Amino acid sequence: MTEDNTYKDHSEYIEEAGRIVRARSKAAGRRLTYHVTTFGCQMNARDSEKLTGVLEACGYVHEDDESLADLVIFNTCTIRDNADQKLYGHLGSLVNVKRRREDMIIAVCGCLPQEKTAYDRIVNSYQFVDLIFGTHNLFDFPELLVKVLTRQDVKGRGHLISEIWEDTDRIVEDLPAKRNYSFKSGVNIMFGCNNYCSYCIVPYVRGRERSRSSSDIIAEIESLAADGVVEVMLLGQNVNSYGRGLDEDITFAGLLREVEKIDGIERIRFMTSHPKDLSDELIDVMAHSGKICRHIHLPLQSGSSRLLESMNRHYTKQQYIDLALRIRERIPDIAITTDLIIGYPGETEEDIEDTLDVIDKVRFDGAFTFIYSKRSGTKAASMPDQVPEDVARKNFATVLEKVQQVSCEQASMNEGKVMDVLVEEVNRQDSSLVTGRLSNNLTVHFPGDASLIGKIVPVKLAECKGFYYIGEKM
Ligand code: 5AD
Ligand code: SF4
Repeated sequence: MTEDNTYKDHSEYIEEAGRIVRARSKAAGRRLTYHVTTFGCQMNARDSEKLTGVLEACGYVHEDDESLADLVIFNTCTIRDNADQKLYGHLGSLVNVKRRREDMIIAVCGCLPQEKTAYDRIVNSYQFVDLIFGTHNLFDFPELLVKVLTRQDVKGRGHLISEIWEDTDRIVEDLPAKRNYSFKSGVNIMFGCNNYCSYCIVPYVRGRERSRSSSDIIAEIESLAADGVVEVMLLGQNVNSYGRGLDEDITFAGLLREVEKIDGIERIRFMTSHPKDLSDELIDVMAHSGKICRHIHLPLQSGSSRLLESMNRHYTKQQYIDLALRIRERIPDIAITTDLIIGYPGETEEDIEDTLDVIDKVRFDGAFTFIYSKRSGTKAASMPDQVPEDVARKNFATVLEKVQQVSCEQASMNEGKVMDVLVEEVNRQDSSLVTGRLSNNLTVHFPGDASLIGKIVPVKLAECKGFYYIGEKM
């Protein structure tokens, strides 16, 4: 640990784990394999790139099939109950595999085990799990890996390796990462969240908000650019409060200005913006930028001012509408997407009408719509008037239909235009096509081959298919 709050010395553990992995590979006559299964958000996806980076630095190679790998890691999410159930489903399907292959290592990390009841359930119901660690212990992974590898000779129960901290002010720096894409990367700019929205478990499992220093962020993006990355996604639960608590005097808009200067970076995205902290300075920086993408994800959650207050969101329906329209006025080609929760305690028909009204006025280009999920320990979990599931489902269907209709109409406005596409991959269903994204985050499929991957090319958006386009390269 250095004198600031960053922790930088993982290399010795990686070397030690590497020696063990090499010796075991030699004894087995084949390379040892890993599989990382990731649930949840972009933060988790980025954390998994770090887990993978460490594993590959130790000599493991990737195995596609979870049940065949020598080491399986589940990087979990617990934002809604269905995320929890996904983990339990995967663990359940490994019971028999692990019985046959005692030396397989199974690890669970991320948000779910930060929650005490979930942790106990994993320990008690899935006793074959070898390693459990929390969101604050990602930087410990090389050390934990050494521990789990060196206890493998001792078979049987009682040897669970586990490390869960409730909170930390440490910031992970310099863990190796293996990117899922060569040309784009997530970059953490801050960790944790202090907002305590009444329904949300994130502040409890990701800890208090802490920003990385701008020099560390810029240095990371410069090295990504040198390594061929053209698009970065700046990640934080609430990027608009970036900089709070740092010694330096910097805002999120200021950070964007710095990132914009980095040669080689052609597209800058960020996620997620809390409406309460979105500044005019940010709108200004976006309006003048040639690199910041024409997309903002601005979670509304509900259109009802009464529910927004109960949710602890710190804005009203009208403040949200005014903000969204101000953004549209300053940046006319921007796409605004959102998150909506349906079935929050006490939600009435009138509240749903308010949500539909905001959708009409803001004309969202896309929305993630979720049925409220009760998370134990949150304020909303103990509120009276929990909405019956059938009512929530009916309202969910109404809202979903509305957002889909509006976002299809929004997307069709670009039909016939020529726009730049960053090509991401060969289309998974039809290999004569490639798939990429517009600056506004919409997907485009068009005829092309793997040589286009990572390139930004002009494409005519010939046909809008609702949520995506079929295009022709110009
Ligand atoms: N139930 C349903 N949706 C939730 N979200 C967060 N907590 C819950 C919950 N308990 C949604 C919010 C947030 C997104 C990441 O997940 O819409 O913006
Ligand atoms: Fe959860 Fe609210 Fe923090 Fe987003 S801002 S992570 S919804 S508490």
